[in-house]
Amino acid sequence: MSHIAYWLLLLLPPLLLLQAVGCNDDALDASKAPCDNFHEHACGNWHAAHSLRALGAHDMRSKLSALSRQQLVQHFEAGGNEPATQLSSFYSSCLGGRQSLPSYMRALQQRHAHWPLLSANATTTSGANFDWAAAQAALRQFGANGLWRLLVQPNWQAAEQRIFYLLAPSFEQLGLGEMSEFLHERYLKYLLLELKLRVRRAAALAAQLVQFEQRLRALQSQSQSLVLHAPQQLQQLAAQLPQLQLLRYFELLLGARYTPQLLVVADIKYLEQLQQLFAAQQVDELIGSSWLLLQLPTHFELLRHEESTLAEQRVQCLRLLQQLLPQPLAALHLRLLHGSAAAGAQFMQRTQQRLQTLFDSLKLQFERLLNATQIFKQDADTQLLALEKLRAMRLLLPPALPTELPTVKAAAAAGLGYDEQLLQLSQSQAQQQFGLALDCLQLPCEAPPDHALGPLDVNVYYRLKQNAIELPLGLLRAPLLDAESQNQTLRLLAGLGYMLAHELLHGFDYDGINYDAKGRIMDASWPPRAIIRFGLRANCYLGERYSNATLTINENIADSEGLRLAFDTYQQQQQLLGSGSGAALATREFFVAFAQNWCGQQPAGASGQHASHKERVNNVLGNFPEFAEAFECKPGSLMHPSQQCRIW
Ligand SMILES: *[C@@H]1O[C@H](CO)[C@@H](O)[C@H](O)[C@H]1NC(C)=O
Ligand SMILES: *[C@@H]1O[C@H](CO)[C@@H](O)[C@H](O)[C@H]1NC(C)=O
Ligand SMILES: *[C@@H]1O[C@H](CO)[C@@H](O)[C@H](O)[C@H]1NC(C)=O
Ligand SMILES: *[C@@H]1O[C@H](CO)[C@@H](O)[C@H](O)[C@H]1NC(C)=O
Repeated sequence: MSHIAYWLLLLLPPLLLLQAVGCNDDALDASKAPCDNFHEHACGNWHAAHSLRALGAHDMRSKLSALSRQQLVQHFEAGGNEPATQLSSFYSSCLGGRQSLPSYMRALQQRHAHWPLLSANATTTSGANFDWAAAQAALRQFGANGLWRLLVQPNWQAAEQRIFYLLAPSFEQLGLGEMSEFLHERYLKYLLLELKLRVRRAAALAAQLVQFEQRLRALQSQSQSLVLHAPQQLQQLAAQLPQLQLLRYFELLLGARYTPQLLVVADIKYLEQLQQLFAAQQVDELIGSSWLLLQLPTHFELLRHEESTLAEQRVQCLRLLQQLLPQPLAALHLRLLHGSAAAGAQFMQRTQQRLQTLFDSLKLQFERLLNATQIFKQDADTQLLALEKLRAMRLLLPPALPTELPTVKAAAAAGLGYDEQLLQLSQSQAQQQFGLALDCLQLPCEAPPDHALGPLDVNVYYRLKQNAIELPLGLLRAPLLDAESQNQTLRLLAGLGYMLAHELLHGFDYDGINYDAKGRIMDASWPPRAIIRFGLRANCYLGERYSNATLTINENIADSEGLRLAFDTYQQQQQLLGSGSGAALATREFFVAFAQNWCGQQPAGASGQHASHKERVNNVLGNFPEFAEAFECKPGSLMHPSQQCRIW
């Protein structure tokens, strides 16, 4: 522990903690002309301090998360005057980083006595003595998976019901290239050496394990549309696949709560092929069971991070805390951010009201647009459906009063090391997940809201199948939500307002228009006339300004139309306030504040559905005549293109 305290002094001078937030004017680079490249103008001087970069800050949003991490790290590592909680005890044992394989082996042996590899006389056999169902259930009780992956997810169609999904394993560690396969094999060899196998034997067995996993991977079906499969009852599925002993697997997994009526969506193709592999007696018992045995330490990444830096370890330990103790971590985060639990709770209550008001004003503005648009001309029914969907759209906010666990007599004193705590917490988390599915076998049911997102998450999500926008706790802090800022409305609308509007528009992009107010795929989708009118306008987002346009179109629609909504809402509110001469200045400030949501870089290797930060900012603002006017950009300059896109 002593070297940690030392590093703390170097990395985290306590007073620097929150000062860096909120002064975005530092990011502005006035030497860059706004009409040439507005992203550079607004963000040219943006940077994150070294200590924050080490905790993952590479752009505005990740900086917020890094600030929250920094505060938590400081709290945990300063230690001293607070009694130990489960959080702090887990964090320090995690950071201590001493893991040992025997804990994991013990945990598995206690639940499933016979593991051929662990008995001294193990040789290659191919009988049918190994208890596959018991072994896989033992793994899953700790959150790890075996020959199949078991998830608890919202229902395939509506979202009010959580059900089980049986899928092919993810094969994440094996990866897809020669390099990752080589590394995986070496990793398995290390684990086997830890189990006291001799070098040559460990190397040979590791190679066989990788081959085995490659064979499993080859069984994967390509169908990605599982999400559209209707669920079936476990007993039906089990009857189709008798060799896999699914009934026994679930019985062992769920104990007293087991019922063969539980609902499953299964990757039947994969499971059938798996069954054939077994039927043809092609699974060597020693190899198959050893592969399963190593899934547990692999799941917990035992020994994987030997060479990671202290900062990486901190990030990893906080990630585990958020995953395994989400509620207490949220409560601690609020307490640290606001000084006391009561102040944190007050902040959350105020925030809920504020965001609801903000969201309502965005919805009202979009309703005006839906009423005025030509897209629904002669299609009043469709227009009505769109209005219904808009009105039904909800905000999912973190609970106002997350509960912090009572303090514990230091877990270390109770003799629990990191591995034991990790296993215990994972086990109770798995039980909770299973409970969510079992509580809700029949519809209608009152599923508790799914707040999977915590203080370290800083992204907003539109949940298509719930017609709801989910905001994680991590976003609800300065500078996005400042207690007392002079131009609150402006900052709020250009920040969280734009983000909410972006998500709202996902309900009305190329995917969104196929789902109704309840998040169900529409029986009767839009009539062709409306779709064509929509498409003619959306086409603009496929223009040459957009790279990877077909991939990023929905995001570009949400970005540009979302900012339109936030901007118009802001204008409305300004008019109500009757501000006159300051209006031009305020307009410029609004656009700067919007652009500064996207200061910094995406992480290396991130691509996919979002354009780069620079492109997002410049392309969105290029669509605003108000922008060109406010900054006096000449037609034809980058920021004032001839073609300006707008659907709604
Ligand atoms: C291996 O040892 C176990 C006890 O550890 C015993 O039950 C089993 O019969 C032995 N198997 C062989 C093949 O000798
Ligand atoms: C939009 O149109 C509907 C139906 O005509 C009407 O009830 C509603 O008040 C209008 N909303 C706004 C904001 O004008
Ligand atoms: C917003 O606040 C800043 C100072 O914090 C001030 O310089 C600026 O004029 C304000 N803008 C508006 C539109 O009130
Ligand atoms: C376009 O997409 C590909 C694949 O996702 C990515 O590698 C590339 O960087 C993207 N290009 C741009 C300009 O974003």
